Amino acid sequence: MAAPFTVLIMAAGQGTRMRSDVPKVLHRIAGRSLVGWVIDAAQSAGAERVLAVVRPGDGVAEGLPDGVQVVEQVEGEGTGAAVLAARGAVDPEGVLVVLSGDQPLVTAEQIEGLLDEHDERGALATLLTTDRVDPAGYGRIVRDDAGNVERIFETKHTEGLTREELAAREVNVGTYAFDAGALFDALDKVGLENGERYLTGVFPAIRDGGGTVAAHITDDPDAAIGVNDRAGLMRAEEAAQRRLAAEHARAGVTFLQPGTTRLEVGVTIGRDTVLGPGTVLEGTTAVGEGCELGPHTTARDATIRDGAAVLHSFVLGAEVGAGAKIGPFSYLRPGTVIGEDAKVGAFVEVKNSDIGAGAKVPHLSYIGDADVGEKSNLGASTITANYDGRKKHRTKLGKSVKTGVHTSLVAPLDVGDEAYTGAGSTITDDVPEGALAIARERQRNIEGYANRVEEDS
Ligand code: UD1
Ligand code: MG
Repeated sequence: MAAPFTVLIMAAGQGTRMRSDVPKVLHRIAGRSLVGWVIDAAQSAGAERVLAVVRPGDGVAEGLPDGVQVVEQVEGEGTGAAVLAARGAVDPEGVLVVLSGDQPLVTAEQIEGLLDEHDERGALATLLTTDRVDPAGYGRIVRDDAGNVERIFETKHTEGLTREELAAREVNVGTYAFDAGALFDALDKVGLENGERYLTGVFPAIRDGGGTVAAHITDDPDAAIGVNDRAGLMRAEEAAQRRLAAEHARAGVTFLQPGTTRLEVGVTIGRDTVLGPGTVLEGTTAVGEGCELGPHTTARDATIRDGAAVLHSFVLGAEVGAGAKIGPFSYLRPGTVIGEDAKVGAFVEVKNSDIGAGAKVPHLSYIGDADVGEKSNLGASTITANYDGRKKHRTKLGKSVKTGVHTSLVAPLDVGDEAYTGAGSTITDDVPEGALAIARERQRNIEGYANRVEEDS
């Protein structure tokens, strides 16, 4: 384990190339802000303190999680100016890891590897590098015989660079460990380029002063993904999805069509669960073991218990009991709890309702603000009239109730255990246990009607 270290995350500014009202580092991938990913990596690596550099009033501070200390960059432009803004908040005797708020996929392992290399090499500065990306546009690394960094040259403009230089594949990812005092001393010597003070200007200054600049190479190309525009945001989202899917797959989840599933970071999935094509799991969704989700199921902030199947449906803020069968084409809304082994079928919407264990709502229903007892069976197109235009009311159905097709249940309403309703009934009064409620016009047949119509015309 490395000695105590502080992490500084450069996160200031709107990022004009995003063309957005949202500051760049608050854009989200897989449900978490770019800077949120970086903070998570820093904390997982064991950072003693995490500082984030923002501009006064840029809105970034408001989007940061707890436990992060905000430093305001009031003057200067560029990554070097960002680091200088934190000078007063950093112990010059300590080790400072500098990360970019727009490089979300740096990992705790990379930070730990960087710190180990920094320590072993006795370096004043250590950079994270990789040779697993297209090096065009990145700063390239030239190492000396000892394997330390001799120089870094930028390749945004290629005039004057030799073929040999341009063949260099090891690039600067933009993630660093420094001895803090040496970093700030070197930054004082870095001049302005295009009006900006570049953090990368410190490396020649450190070497010129006799200090060692080391490099820690990673074979994970995602570490180098920086978001400067929406194209970068898409690349980062794709990489985050690949990473999350791989983690879940390693933990025992099957993806029937990898690349079509979308997961967010807060989602948990049990082993032997199978995710079909087009499945989207968001927010705090927790899926149990042995479930079958999708194709094309979306769940947000949902709880889906072991062995449940949810096909082609939406589950928002609802709970699906173990072994329950949902869909295709069901819509479960917040406050809904579906009991064990219950069934909710095609074109059924359920809101803020409790569907008991083993109960069935198989076709074409709206169930809102209702309690449906266990083993009840609602006929096709049973509808709760839960809203009188001003207030919502509850409908209570006991155990093993059977409603006929096209039953309207006008709330507030209480239907006793084992009661029945006749098809097409509009039930406005409570139904006692075991009764059959019929509430519709009796049928009468008018004989010879067709002939009469013909004679009249
Ligand atoms: C930077 C690096 C480049 C590296 C690349 C990787 C420098 C000079 N360049 O370029 O070597 O390959 O990242 O993605 O360091 N920021 C501030 N204050 C500022 C300017 C920037 O806090 O005044 C923050 C930004 O919010 C951003 C980060 O610093 O999160 C990096 O700035 P950006 O302008 O995106 O630098 P790049 O051009 O990507
Ligand atoms: Mg950038």
